Amino acid sequence: MGRNPLVMIIDEDPIFRQELQAMLTPARLAVVADCGYGVEAASLAEELKPDLILASIEEPIARAIQTVEAVRGIRPNAPVIAYSSSTELPLVRQVMHAGARDLLVHPFKVGELLAAIEAVMRTVETGPGTNAAQPQAAGTILTVFGAKGGIGKTTITTNIATAIARDTDNSVLVMDLDTRFGDVAIMLDIEPAVTVAEMAAQVATLDRATFKSALVEHSSGVFVLPSPKHPNDWRQVQAEDVKELARFASRMFDYVILDTPGAFNDIVGAALEVATQVLVVTSVDMASIKDTSFILDVLESEGFPDERLFLTVNHPNGANTIRAADIERVLRKKVFWEIPHDSQMTMATQIGLPVVLARPKSRAASNLTGLAGKITGRDAPARESRGFFRRLIPAGSRN
Ligand SMILES: Nc1ncnc2c1ncn2[C@@H]1O[C@H](COP(=O)(O)OP(=O)(O)O)[C@@H](O)[C@H]1O
Ligand SMILES: [Mg+2]
Repeated sequence: MGRNPLVMIIDEDPIFRQELQAMLTPARLAVVADCGYGVEAASLAEELKPDLILASIEEPIARAIQTVEAVRGIRPNAPVIAYSSSTELPLVRQVMHAGARDLLVHPFKVGELLAAIEAVMRTVETGPGTNAAQPQAAGTILTVFGAKGGIGKTTITTNIATAIARDTDNSVLVMDLDTRFGDVAIMLDIEPAVTVAEMAAQVATLDRATFKSALVEHSSGVFVLPSPKHPNDWRQVQAEDVKELARFASRMFDYVILDTPGAFNDIVGAALEVATQVLVVTSVDMASIKDTSFILDVLESEGFPDERLFLTVNHPNGANTIRAADIERVLRKKVFWEIPHDSQMTMATQIGLPVVLARPKSRAASNLTGLAGKITGRDAPARESRGFFRRLIPAGSRN
């Protein structure tokens, strides 16, 4: 989109409409229409062809939702950013079903609004429906996620990353977002220099050269941004900044792979929100499957797009009692990939090399190389996640 987006504001409160206009003008966003709920919104949308719609969702909610749906019908390619003083789950669902791309909590800060606008407009430019021959403005963000520790998340992260770097021309960055035990540096046997915490703190003013110089390059060609050494160092890190950092990185790397802890906190929420694909890792013991089931339910109830979740079953120990088919039945989700138990994997971990490099002919290596191939080969839509977790995970719930 060569020009600045034309914005339409739908809000019953004319005074707030003016306030919103005043927020947008310095960012050179032209408001071409503003109105309340009802048919006027649809007709203005038809006449003035806005590229972006900001819609307040307040009482009467049904009318607000109808208005958004009507405007979406007329301008299906113009993303809607809704805002509401309510974060009740049923309302969040209704708003998302109406086709809104994001939902801000009202009142919001200018920065929050502009970040949301930037995010949705970027996906308009890169998302499905645009000319496929055009280079994409942002790479894939792959989040490796799981309910527990010790189920192979970091092993999968480091192996996929090195396999992609080795087997393709794609650039790869691993960001270690494990707020408890950042193991990526150890597993790749690299000396951490600058950490995620430091980069996140300066994301607002970060430039590409500074970022690149902060990264450690592994001999495989994978770039790494390690986790801070001590869990306490995560205390100051804002989830919003981590999201921004991942997005920033995705404009420089074809693949940004985010490793996460075996816990659910606001940093994990951020890692899920920005992900274009999520590998949901589960091991095969009952406790892990139960926890995975819980986590899938939570994600579903929060409206997380199911098509972005890829269930990955790992066998970190040899006791192979539960079959993939049973797991699928229990979790009501297809298994995307299954990783066999292989003692070579543990051996590789111990010498600080991904098994795809240490023992490229091993069963584990060929399996993980296959997984990397499936990830790079698939046609993943470069879409942003919706801003749910920021609101649904209480601040301070980390660790
Ligand atoms: N499929 C597997 N076969 C053998 N060992 C595995 C397998 N997957 C993981 N492991 C081992 O399990 C241990 C924990 O893995 P790790 O990746 O650190 O888990 P997480 O990041 O989920 O805490 C590591 O020593 C790793 O080598
Ligand atoms: Mg780990």
